[in-house]
Amino acid sequence: MILKNIKLSNIRSYRSQSIDFPDGSLLLSGDIGAGKSTILLAAEFALFGIMKGDLSGENLLRYGSDEGSVELKFDVDGKEVIIKRNLKRAKDSTKQESGFIIVDGKKDDGTHIELKARILDLLGYPKELVSKSKSLVYRYTVYTPQEQMKHIIFSDREERLNILRGVFGIDRYKRVVENTSIILKTMKERSKELEGRVFGIEEKNRQLIFQKTELEKAGKRLGEIRPKLCSAAKLVEDRNRLLAEKEKGMENLRQLKKELEISSMKLNDKVSLSEKNRKEQEILEKQAFETSERISGLDVRTARSLERIEQSIKENDARIKSILQQRSGFSESKKHLERRVKELEKSIEESAEHSMNLELKEKELLELKKKTEAKDRLKRYAEELEHGINDISKKLNELEALRKNSESIMKNILSMQTCPMCTRPVEKEHKHDITAREQENIRRSLESAKLLENQLNEKKEGLKDIKKSIEEVFESEKRAEKLGAEAGSLKKTLDGMAEKKKELARSEQELVSSTEKLLALQKEDVDKISRELEDEKSLLKRLQEKNHLEEILGEKEARKKELVMMQEEIKKDIGDINNARIMLYDKLKAAGDAETSYLNAKKGCDEAKENMKLLQIEEKGIATQEDGISGMIKILEKEINEKLLAKQRLERTRQVQDWLENQFLNVVAVIEKNVMYKIQAQFRELFQQWFKALVEDEALMVSLDESFTPIVQQDGYEASLDGLSGGEKTAVALAYRLSLNKVINSIVGTIKTKDLIILDEPTDGFSSEQLDKVRDVIEDLGMKQVIIVSHEPKVESFVNTVLRIGKSGHVSSVGG
Ligand SMILES: Nc1ncnc2c1ncn2[C@@H]1O[C@H](COP(=O)(O)OP(=O)(O)OP(=O)(O)O)[C@@H](O)[C@H]1O
Ligand SMILES: [Mg+2]
Repeated sequence: MILKNIKLSNIRSYRSQSIDFPDGSLLLSGDIGAGKSTILLAAEFALFGIMKGDLSGENLLRYGSDEGSVELKFDVDGKEVIIKRNLKRAKDSTKQESGFIIVDGKKDDGTHIELKARILDLLGYPKELVSKSKSLVYRYTVYTPQEQMKHIIFSDREERLNILRGVFGIDRYKRVVENTSIILKTMKERSKELEGRVFGIEEKNRQLIFQKTELEKAGKRLGEIRPKLCSAAKLVEDRNRLLAEKEKGMENLRQLKKELEISSMKLNDKVSLSEKNRKEQEILEKQAFETSERISGLDVRTARSLERIEQSIKENDARIKSILQQRSGFSESKKHLERRVKELEKSIEESAEHSMNLELKEKELLELKKKTEAKDRLKRYAEELEHGINDISKKLNELEALRKNSESIMKNILSMQTCPMCTRPVEKEHKHDITAREQENIRRSLESAKLLENQLNEKKEGLKDIKKSIEEVFESEKRAEKLGAEAGSLKKTLDGMAEKKKELARSEQELVSSTEKLLALQKEDVDKISRELEDEKSLLKRLQEKNHLEEILGEKEARKKELVMMQEEIKKDIGDINNARIMLYDKLKAAGDAETSYLNAKKGCDEAKENMKLLQIEEKGIATQEDGISGMIKILEKEINEKLLAKQRLERTRQVQDWLENQFLNVVAVIEKNVMYKIQAQFRELFQQWFKALVEDEALMVSLDESFTPIVQQDGYEASLDGLSGGEKTAVALAYRLSLNKVINSIVGTIKTKDLIILDEPTDGFSSEQLDKVRDVIEDLGMKQVIIVSHEPKVESFVNTVLRIGKSGHVSSVGG
């Protein structure tokens, strides 16, 4: 891998900066805090993202900025790669946003984890590092941050060993041992399970032998039964055939019997029909004789035809009906006219009475009119009297009030001792005077009241009479109204009277005419016509009866002939049937003992079938038993096979288990030891080599123990690292760092970062001569790209390119 360019945006002391990296050695020079390490940290961030504790987002994102990014361009394995990662300040932390990666111009967006996976793939780093927060291989090969190098050397022995085990991938042997233990545990469980499955195999084998013997027995039995079954089936077949033949004979017999039965029925039918005919013939004979007798007994002497008589009856009937109808019509109309005449005469009679009534009513009306004329006058008079009564009543009330006043004065004065006005005592005389005066007033008022009461009574009497008269006038008015209406109605009745008189004259005339017509009709002799009609009707009836009887007689004669013919035919049929029956009897005789031989055949057939059925049941039972045994054998064989398989597996598992326990684990332990030894040897040699190159002191020697701890010997004595000078410590650290780089690059063959090394302040505390040696060391490294951070001016002289980093107003810039 060779770095090409980096673009920083709001990273630590940088705002926006692009830095190109040339091939060869490059020095990043600048004052303390100028921004040198920031570039290296940013490159690491671009590759692997933030790392908890070591490379946090808060540490990278510039204070006061909410967003920042790093874009790194590099070549690896012949490809140009650009990767960009973004940072964003959240509420309590700074988070990595997704970014992108461009490999040979092909851009892919990705989350920080996806980007890391791509980078590990491109750099050929172990994949399992994706989930680890630290990129140890990069940290120990390419770039170790300034202050962490010494930490590796001086840190706890165990911790260092573990780190290096991880870097060299030696911890995989430990994992192999752990995994092997897990596998062994599983295998032991599996062995136990297999043992369980193998258990009982001998018993199963015994059962199998037993079942096989049983199967053989069943087969033998079946071999015996099957030929028997065959001959039984053959017998059934033969007997069935015989039965079928016998069945035909039987069927013939049944048929003959049936035919005989039918012919018996037919014969019976014919005999009874013949008997019925004979009886009917006798009855017909008798009836014909009776009918002839009745015909000759009928008197039907007449010259007229039947139609003529019927015509005459019709005419006479109509005539009688017409006369009777007219008679009743005229008699009805006469009765009606007589009733009407009577009504009219009565009504005319009543009209005389009405006119008299009318006169009386008109007279009364006149008188009533006169009475009502006095009505207004009476009303006025009554009003006057009412006024008078009111006035007198008022006056009487006033007199009453005066009287009560006088009485009160008298009462007061008598009880009064002193005058309420002047408060002087009231004297007796004074009391007497006033009492006398008031008594006089009372007397006078009583007199006047009496007079007024007399007048009042008179007037009330008068008013009563007048009111009575007015009442009478009202009654007269009502009566007059009623009379007026009655008189009106009478007048109308009298007015209609002239019309009624005319109607009376007309009705009387009509009555005369009706009476005449009725008399004329009564003269016609209805009885005579009726008698003639009855005679004709009787004659007609006889004629009709005769015709009817003759018809019946004809029918009976025809039926008689028909019956004679039928009787002949029946006689012939009976002859035919009897002949046929004789033939049937002959056939029946010939059929002989078909029934007995059929029953014998049936019995034989049933016996053969029963025998076959029993054999079939037995055969089926044994066959089922054989199937059951076969099934059982199959199951047993399957189980035995499974057990044998399990036995094989058990043996194999035990072998593998033995191999893992007694050989594999030992081999792994030996391999681990050998690998460790090889690494240590290589590492030790390199370490000594690089240290010698940096420190020329012959008395100072370095070495490594099994835990990769640097051991220093001074003059043959083991010296403590802490006792070394600053420059010596730095030299130990740098030599250790460079050796580590070489060892890892050579052991982990896949990694593609072998061309690059970044050294941040590798010369801290170095003497001028030591600094000169660094030049040789860099050359010896033979890397394509070496990036050094140092503020030693001397270093500038032995690098290909110097990048000056300055800072102003807390903003770093390159080339300033
Ligand atoms: N998140 C930050 N935001 C802004 N400035 C920061 C942030 N973190 C560190 N700094 C400052 O950025 C400056 C550059 O630091 P850097 O570690 O790159 O310096 P350096 O050049 O490597 O110095 P030295 O020579 O001492 O190692 C320092 O002043 C440091 O305090
Ligand atoms: Mg620094």
